[in-house]
Amino acid sequence: MQWQSALDPQGPQAAHLHGLFWVFVWVSAVVWVLVMVALLAGLRRRGRAGDPVLPPSPRGERRAGIAVGVAVAATVLIITGLTVFSYARTHVVSAASGEPISIRVRGYQWWWEVTYADPVPSRSFITANEIHIPVGTPVHLDLLAADVIHSFWVPNIAGKQDLIPGRSNELTIQADKPGRYRGQCAEFCGLQHAHMALLVVAEPPAEFERWRQRQLAPSPAPATPEQAAGRQTFEGKACAACHAVRGTSAAGTLGPDLTHVGGREYIAAGLMPTTRGTLAAWIADPQVVKPGNNMPMVPLSPDELRAVSAYLAGLQ
Ligand code: CUA
Repeated sequence: MQWQSALDPQGPQAAHLHGLFWVFVWVSAVVWVLVMVALLAGLRRRGRAGDPVLPPSPRGERRAGIAVGVAVAATVLIITGLTVFSYARTHVVSAASGEPISIRVRGYQWWWEVTYADPVPSRSFITANEIHIPVGTPVHLDLLAADVIHSFWVPNIAGKQDLIPGRSNELTIQADKPGRYRGQCAEFCGLQHAHMALLVVAEPPAEFERWRQRQLAPSPAPATPEQAAGRQTFEGKACAACHAVRGTSAAGTLGPDLTHVGGREYIAAGLMPTTRGTLAAWIADPQVVKPGNNMPMVPLSPDELRAVSAYLAGLQ
């Protein structure tokens, strides 16, 4: 089961925004109903065609003045009230530093680089498009952009926050229930904006720690001769110029880190589930699958393509 709905909050930040949403909806609904009642009352009092036009009476003028004054005062009060309430709610939601877990998320056209930074370099690792967090723990996100403005939005657990080139924005997220929460870029960022999804996986702390240990390990060695051939092709062709696979000579930084790509649920930022077949389809010609993305087609023979996709699928 995968969630993506702002109306089904699964963490404290999302719950705050959800409350804010319904207060706005109800206040607006009441105002709308009152305006409609006033409008209908006014229409009912309208004279018939052919009635003589009477000059305005001083009493009627005074009443109209009071009505307009009350309406203006009510408008100012309601808008001020909603503004203050909205500010207070979003203030609570805004990031607090010093959370135990800090993750750097950098937006690229059109994928997410996810860095679990640790003061000890050997405990840092980089992954892509999939963020694992322990349940019930606030997680601090440092949001950056490599090219254009993107926006991080995982509706079930937090509000939107922009990723802006040359600037660092912050967001705290927290999930109270284990689950898989889909998120997506919420700021138009080019041709494949709609295909810039991400997945937040909230797990019990012990499971999260196991996942983290797996990510910290270098890529697994090829288990079959075909995978070994795939690794050789990967390191020898242009693949390694853009992608890193820890534990091999591939150390490119332009594209996603593929050290454990086979263990991620999706490839190409949520576009396709990770299987050997989808990996092969992607590598055969990335421009057919996701036109406009930065990965060129690397000419491979059918055997090389099969071997490379087997190798990558095996990088669990
Ligand atoms: Cu990134 Cu839209």
